[in-house]
Amino acid sequence: MAKILVVGGSGYIGSHTTHFLLRHGHDCVVADNLSKGYRHNTEISRLRVVGLHDTAALETLMAKEKFDAVVHFAASIAVGESTRVPQEYFTNNVAGSLSLLNAMIAANVKKIVFSSTAAVYGTPATTPITEEMPFSPESPYGETKVMVEKVLRWYDRCVGLRSVCLRYFNACGAEPKAGLGEEHIPETHLIPLVLRAALYGNPVKVFGTDYPTADGSCVRDYVHVMDLAEAHGLALDYLLAGGATRQFNCGTGQGFSVLEVIAAAEQATGKKVPYTIASRRDGDPSVLVADSSRIRNELGWKPVRSELLDIVKDALEFEPIRLSRA
Ligand code: UFG
Repeated sequence: MAKILVVGGSGYIGSHTTHFLLRHGHDCVVADNLSKGYRHNTEISRLRVVGLHDTAALETLMAKEKFDAVVHFAASIAVGESTRVPQEYFTNNVAGSLSLLNAMIAANVKKIVFSSTAAVYGTPATTPITEEMPFSPESPYGETKVMVEKVLRWYDRCVGLRSVCLRYFNACGAEPKAGLGEEHIPETHLIPLVLRAALYGNPVKVFGTDYPTADGSCVRDYVHVMDLAEAHGLALDYLLAGGATRQFNCGTGQGFSVLEVIAAAEQATGKKVPYTIASRRDGDPSVLVADSSRIRNELGWKPVRSELLDIVKDALEFEPIRLSRA
């Protein structure tokens, strides 16, 4: 059992991970400013309402609670938005992370699991993507994650702060039995939007059908948020057992096109998904699929809930819960 500070634990991936860690016997405190996440996601843990930029408050909290490790989810997450308001992304994601890391050093907490992303790679030269491929972000969002990953390497070398960076591919799905799921406002992610199109009739836009893929639409590696939660548990175990700073891709290794996601949603709902063909969205690479052999081999991670139809069914089961809160 370890004592974990979950920063950003009221959000989508953070809340699923907190629930996972609690179920596996860890003690969790969530630190969150509730700017995007929800208090209802933190009901089973202790919540401290504190922002990432409040270094002094974070240091005081860490000095008092004596955490074994930190898991850091708090960030602005929308690729498209980051091109419009980059200042928000560099401030929240880079300056905010520095504030947290500096509080950790001051309080002598020397282990962190950091939420990184496939967006650090940009458009890869080959697919699937391995961790050795170079950083080549195509958005301020991706760049902020690269910058924090680089800071983490220096903080390891210079002050011994060890980290695991988990580079998520497309996080999706839900844990409806725990009342957890995707509640982004506005929602920009494909699976919830496709389900809403099936259920409520507003057509979803397919961003581009002229990509060099089998059916012309973009291909992504969709990974269930509960499998991602488990990856965080394994990363923590690894760091707590003395593991060195490391970066891991988190994906299934299987890609699905936008049109295949639509077909899965039709199967799960038994309804047609109305859609229109729209132009490409800025910054969307045609194919993003992970080679996750490093985390499979080194941490023993195995995504077990990430069959596309299961993901879509879980997201569908969460929809009435989301609606009841909206
Ligand atoms: N898409 C549509 N129509 C929509 C929404 C999305 O066609 O209305 C397409 C996108 O073009 C893309 C795919 O569906 O090809 C998935 O799009 P999402 O918006 O669901 O997810 P992204 O791939 O853009 O981004 C996600 C995370 C990022 C992360 C990235 C890494 O949100 O934080 O995966 O792959 F960086």
